[in-house]
Amino acid sequence: MSCNLACALRQGTQHAHVLAENTALMKAWMKGMVALDAFRELLVNLYFVYGSLEQQLYSHQTHPVLGQIYWPSLNRQDNLRQDLVYFYGQDWQQHIRPRTAGLQYAARIGVVGLTAPERLVAHAYVRYMGDLSGGQQLQRIARTALSLPLKQGTRLYDFEDLPSVEAKKRFKQRYRDALNHLPIGPETVQQIVEEANLAFRLTCDLMQSLEADLQAALGEEAFQSILQGNRPPLHPARPSVA
Ligand code: HEM
Repeated sequence: MSCNLACALRQGTQHAHVLAENTALMKAWMKGMVALDAFRELLVNLYFVYGSLEQQLYSHQTHPVLGQIYWPSLNRQDNLRQDLVYFYGQDWQQHIRPRTAGLQYAARIGVVGLTAPERLVAHAYVRYMGDLSGGQQLQRIARTALSLPLKQGTRLYDFEDLPSVEAKKRFKQRYRDALNHLPIGPETVQQIVEEANLAFRLTCDLMQSLEADLQAALGEEAFQSILQGNRPPLHPARPSVA
């Protein structure tokens, strides 16, 4: 059976996804151990990552490939700005500084936009499909762990146009259909899968750069116990999306 782009991305990043799920930050988060400092620092860095991505997607909106997966309602940077106002106050811009890992991730997206724009498909896929999938679970856990007030602090994961689980599910299918109809050949499919793996790696680098904050918040013993024992993959046999 042939594997279209959605299928190639899912299968081709399965291992990278398991590695991401098994970073200390994600494992602790899934256990309800969300360290405030690490969490808000993650948002700071993602603000720069999405800024770069959304600027590139905006400038390529008439590109024959990228135009097919351009949904401005997916944009996260403004929602992230609201989260940063919540966590750092109205003068948030004076209190935030991206980490090297965040800047490298954002810079890679910029380079790809200039040199190989089709590869931006990979960055959009990894971020938006991730936010619409595991991100929703992470949001629920973070809201409880940090006792956040209604609608504050996790706007990153709020998709106003897709308010229900069903709406998100339908949209993800629409996104996969769009991926499968992109006017690209097998070589570009391979390049996009390769870039998606890089996007996962850059995400892991970012999460690892926040481990010192996590360790400080949890204490050495709890942190070490998180590091031991991998999470089983959440979707050991992810169904084919062909
Ligand atoms: C512990 C953390 C995570 C959990 C629990 C999780 C969970 C999931 C689940 C259950 C799905 C399948 C959803 C579906 O088929 O509708 C999924 C898909 C996905 N996740 Fe994660 N995830 C996590 C971390 C991440 C991270 C860090 C990223 C990268 C930024 C990511 C990116 C993706 C992507 C791109 C998909 C779409 C796969 C596809 O259908 O092609 N996930 N995730």
